[in-house]
Amino acid sequence: MSNSKVTQCPNEPLPEYAFIGRSNVGKSSLINMLTDRKSLAKTSGKPGKTQLINHFKINGNWFLVDLPGYGYAKVSKKSKKTFQKYITDYFEQRKQLICSFVLVDIRHEPQKIDMEFMEWLGENGIPFCIVFTKADKLKPAVIERNVKTYINKLLEGAWEEAPQNFITSSSKKIGREELLHYIADINTGFFTQTKG
Ligand code: GTP
Ligand code: MG
Repeated sequence: MSNSKVTQCPNEPLPEYAFIGRSNVGKSSLINMLTDRKSLAKTSGKPGKTQLINHFKINGNWFLVDLPGYGYAKVSKKSKKTFQKYITDYFEQRKQLICSFVLVDIRHEPQKIDMEFMEWLGENGIPFCIVFTKADKLKPAVIERNVKTYINKLLEGAWEEAPQNFITSSSKKIGREELLHYIADINTGFFTQTKG
């Protein structure tokens, strides 16, 4: 299901996991990698491909949610504003949202827009993990160094404890099992609680 209003999202009380981050960071590709489908979520080499809130129901009992990216300069000011409003509405109002995954390109230095977005999630009590993307583009030693730099930057800032992080590559299927296990564990807790 795709739409641009949180009030129109599926109303089933199932746990859901949202993927957010800068345009072109690889959100839609990661959803395809996790679900082992080539084009379930639409991807593109050009930023700004995903423009709606997209719910993908998995095994009939949880959702993956693909969202538009933030920080894409070429969208008009007006549509940029609308984008951000319905993204923030989604995060603020969506009761089914269990955990968000903030994607960051492992090749880049920590970016202000991502740091600010994570702070905003923190201030609003929205749990999140960091997912480093495009790990296939770097050597293991550089990956390790960049992750350390990133975590240190968070700890120097507003964070006392670093959020959980995952290293992934959608093209090489790196990090798939870790992410799916993480989600499965939370789902198990969710359904145990609901039944109990
Ligand atoms: P928007 O919907 O525009 O916000 O972008 P997105 O974050 O959904 O990115 P998308 O999945 O469409 O991928 C953007 C580009 O990055 C595409 O050209 C992908 O092929 C490429 N890409 C995504 N993940 C990876 C990866 O793990 N490795 C490499 N090498 N390229 C990737
Ligand atoms: Mg996308």
